[in-house]
Amino acid sequence: MRTFAELSPSPRTILTPGPVEVDPRVLRALSYPILGQFDPEFTALMNDTMEMLRQLFRTDNRWAYPVDGTSRSGIEAVLTSLIEPGDRVLVPIYGRFGHLLHEIAERCGAEVTTIEKEWGTVFEPEEIVAAIKRTKPAVVALVHGETSTGRLQPLEEIGRACRELDVLLVVDAVATIGGVPVEADAWHLDAVVGGTQKCLSVPSGMSPITYNERAERKVLSRKRVERGLRGPDYSAPAEERRPIQSNYLDLAQLQDYWSPARLNHHTEMTSMLYGLREGLRIALAEGLDARFARHRLHESALVAGLRAMGVAFYGDPACKLPVVTCVTIPEGIDGESVRSMLLDLFGIEIASSFGPLKGKIWRIGTMGYSCSRKNVLHFLGAFEAVLLRHGFRLPAGAALQAALDVYDAAKEG
Ligand SMILES: Cc1ncc(COP(=O)(O)O)c(C=O)c1O
Repeated sequence: MRTFAELSPSPRTILTPGPVEVDPRVLRALSYPILGQFDPEFTALMNDTMEMLRQLFRTDNRWAYPVDGTSRSGIEAVLTSLIEPGDRVLVPIYGRFGHLLHEIAERCGAEVTTIEKEWGTVFEPEEIVAAIKRTKPAVVALVHGETSTGRLQPLEEIGRACRELDVLLVVDAVATIGGVPVEADAWHLDAVVGGTQKCLSVPSGMSPITYNERAERKVLSRKRVERGLRGPDYSAPAEERRPIQSNYLDLAQLQDYWSPARLNHHTEMTSMLYGLREGLRIALAEGLDARFARHRLHESALVAGLRAMGVAFYGDPACKLPVVTCVTIPEGIDGESVRSMLLDLFGIEIASSFGPLKGKIWRIGTMGYSCSRKNVLHFLGAFEAVLLRHGFRLPAGAALQAALDVYDAAKEG
């Protein structure tokens, strides 16, 4: 019979748009002993997590808690709970994850209208507002940071318009939360979905969400009325029944579980909750504004280094996502061979992209714990060597010097 080697993953420098490296304090938190899910010590940790999530999303919403599952579980929980079959939904798409929102909204039975922007760009707010006025949706679902193209969609004006027009705005902030400002209340975002494995630097497996009273009203209007062991109340005529179709992702049930009533739903992911709580504690102790500034600094050093190397950037620079830098793969260079050499010889992982961008760009993430001077400098040195090995002509040594100049200037400033 085959025996298996002891688990021993190689240490990596992860510069992808997620999952990224995890702070050792979070890894330690994941290894703590299990507490029962209704143990007061554990429910106190759940409450801490809710409080810290409110700070992270910059909201006074009552509801801010994680959905157990990867980020798309948060997206699916919000959309499934907010969209009734037949509801009109508008999905503006400017990359791969907009298509995911479209797909999920369709599975919810919505009448979906999409508007699309060329990849590498984002929408002008008025384009989305005009589409809202034209299609009169109940819900708009929009990506904040599109990791597939490395673009950032400004939300403030869209949020204001949605509020004025009484439309629910759902935002995928999976890639931005904890690395780029996300202002749930100030921008009038009705529901926001975050991710753990990116700028928060917690392993993949939970999706923090928040939603306001406007969204909650819709959720509660669809709550199934349970009648003890006899199951839900189906006394309403069929055409008036509109219960949320998922059990696992039913926000009405999830919020009861996260409320002081602690109505039993699933078994909370104890270890992941420890990890998330520790990751949030670390992010808030750093200070959100300081954390955003750190992401900006290392992005600047990375971009300066790459520019000095002479590579071309992909996408409209006016809407660049600060935590993902996209580089066009130069003519005649095998992008996958470059990625393999970086991983095999230097232990560095960068990403390729999807769909129309497959084989066309590399994506370099600078997120959370991976977003550090050590990693940026290590990457630039390695990338230069690997590109030279692949026959790309560049001014040797310039990249690291340009990055070091950025760090020196920041020290002086
Ligand atoms: C913008 C965005 N939305 C949603 C997702 C889906 O997240 P997950 O893979 O954790 O389900 C990702 C993952 O890369 C993402 O980048």
